Amino acid sequence: MVATPRPSQLLLLYELGCAFAARIELDELVPLVIAKCRDVLDAEGGSVLLLDAGNDELFFPYVVAENASAAERLSSVRVPVAGSIAGAVVRSEAPLRVDDATHDARFFGGADLQSGVKTRSLLAAPLRARQGIIGVIEVVNRRGGGCFSDEDLAFLEALAGSVAVAIDNARLYEQVKSSAEKLRTEVGLLRRDLARRDRFTEIVGTGPAMSEVFRLMESAAASPIAVLIEGETGTGKELVARAVHRESARADGPFLAVNCAAFQDTLLESELFGHRRGAFTGATSDRRGLFEAAEKGTVFLDEVGEMPASMQAKLLRVLEQGEVIPVGDTRPRRVDVRIVSATNRDLRTEVAERRFREDLYYRLSAFPIHLPPLRARREDIPLLAQAFVAAAAEKHGKRIAGIEPSAIDQLMRAGWPGNIRELRNEMERAVALSRADDAITLAQLSERVRSSGQSTADAGAFAAATTPGLPLLQARDQFEARYIAEVLRQQGGNVSHAAKALGLSRAMLQRKMKAFALR
Ligand SMILES: Nc1ncnc2c1ncn2[C@@H]1O[C@H](COP(=O)(O)OP(=O)(O)OP(=O)(O)O)[C@@H](O)[C@H]1O
Ligand SMILES: [Mg+2]
Repeated sequence: MVATPRPSQLLLLYELGCAFAARIELDELVPLVIAKCRDVLDAEGGSVLLLDAGNDELFFPYVVAENASAAERLSSVRVPVAGSIAGAVVRSEAPLRVDDATHDARFFGGADLQSGVKTRSLLAAPLRARQGIIGVIEVVNRRGGGCFSDEDLAFLEALAGSVAVAIDNARLYEQVKSSAEKLRTEVGLLRRDLARRDRFTEIVGTGPAMSEVFRLMESAAASPIAVLIEGETGTGKELVARAVHRESARADGPFLAVNCAAFQDTLLESELFGHRRGAFTGATSDRRGLFEAAEKGTVFLDEVGEMPASMQAKLLRVLEQGEVIPVGDTRPRRVDVRIVSATNRDLRTEVAERRFREDLYYRLSAFPIHLPPLRARREDIPLLAQAFVAAAAEKHGKRIAGIEPSAIDQLMRAGWPGNIRELRNEMERAVALSRADDAITLAQLSERVRSSGQSTADAGAFAAATTPGLPLLQARDQFEARYIAEVLRQQGGNVSHAAKALGLSRAMLQRKMKAFALR
């Protein structure tokens, strides 16, 4: 039987056609469609149920009811596909007219229980989208107690087609939008990564320890904050300081370095703050200090841990007030400089032992960057060695055919108390010793590097295996890293067991493993 729509229904179809075309937000459009349907079909309520295929359930994202709280309560109801009228419509992919729901075997009573509304008559039509049935549109309870007609059902079915397409399009749009957003973030991240690599090209390092350093450098460069670079001798502190300046907003200003260990008291003060003629013996003319000369640039305080106590107090005042007073002068001068300092001492220990002022430490170390020793990032050794060989070969105008694997192995095993500088010297020496067009072999490595290496024997032998002549703190680090690595090996890499054997908490051991880049 072909049903003929009533004029009011035709009008509604026309109105809704306009609404779909106007691309109103789905969350406005669907309730509008349901409400209009309800009016035209003379129903008490209506809803759209969507299919949750994974759970074989339907849920109510859109409900229009006479009673708002009934609609609200339905939003939490899940309707089983097997065991409901809506489910039967999904499965048969055909519309259904039910005149007495409570006596229909397929009827799911849970929705009535939850909403407190008794369902009598209903119409349900499938929402058919490109990929199949995505849900059902329903109207319930003919006003005045009668039943819906087959014409009503045909009308709802016709309408269901447009609603399904609108929902499907909106979903597709959301998907495209979110994948476009995801792509955008990914491209952004990749760009930043590339830019970072571009920016710090002369600094070699690909392992996790150096990735963290690059990330910190980038943040430091983007802000005027005081940076403290900590790390053993030869780990690249000055290289990093220069790179941070070069990539900062002050890049066009000067970068001036001073070695705080190289001067005694008065001379350091004069070096930093300048002096007036006659301020001390040898001060034959006025002289501008480093802080003034570095105006709008960066002052690099190298070996800041060696600064004498009296200078520490004066430096603190400069940092607090942004002014310097030249030696022999009384008038302060304003300076605008960024401070980057470096130390190979553990400044916290220096503070604890009262050799370094705590207040100055906090001023200088607002943004600490710790450079790992080379032994804690052995993964970078092959790349560094190759870079140093290439640079030395170019300097000597000599062609070198790379480094033999056995030599690389030994380089990766060696101790490197002098860190990257020592590796660079070792590779320069090897290039000088090798014949043109040859590769570097074990024979070109120094006796120290050839005989140095991690013993993998008994953990007790480690204290003896530590490189002699190291400052105690570094020797302790070296020992700790090797000892932990050995215990981890003995415990088959199990962190919990290793922590127990070492008498450490798991968290503490993980911190140490991270610091020493073990695993
Ligand atoms: N990541 C790196 N990539 C390439 N070269 C590096 C790297 N780190 C350091 N170097 C090189 O190693 C040498 C030592 O670096 P730098 O002088 O910056 O170390 P430092 O930490 O300041 O040492 P010190 O404490 O002895 O002053 C330099 O030749 C530097 O170019
Ligand atoms: Mg240095």
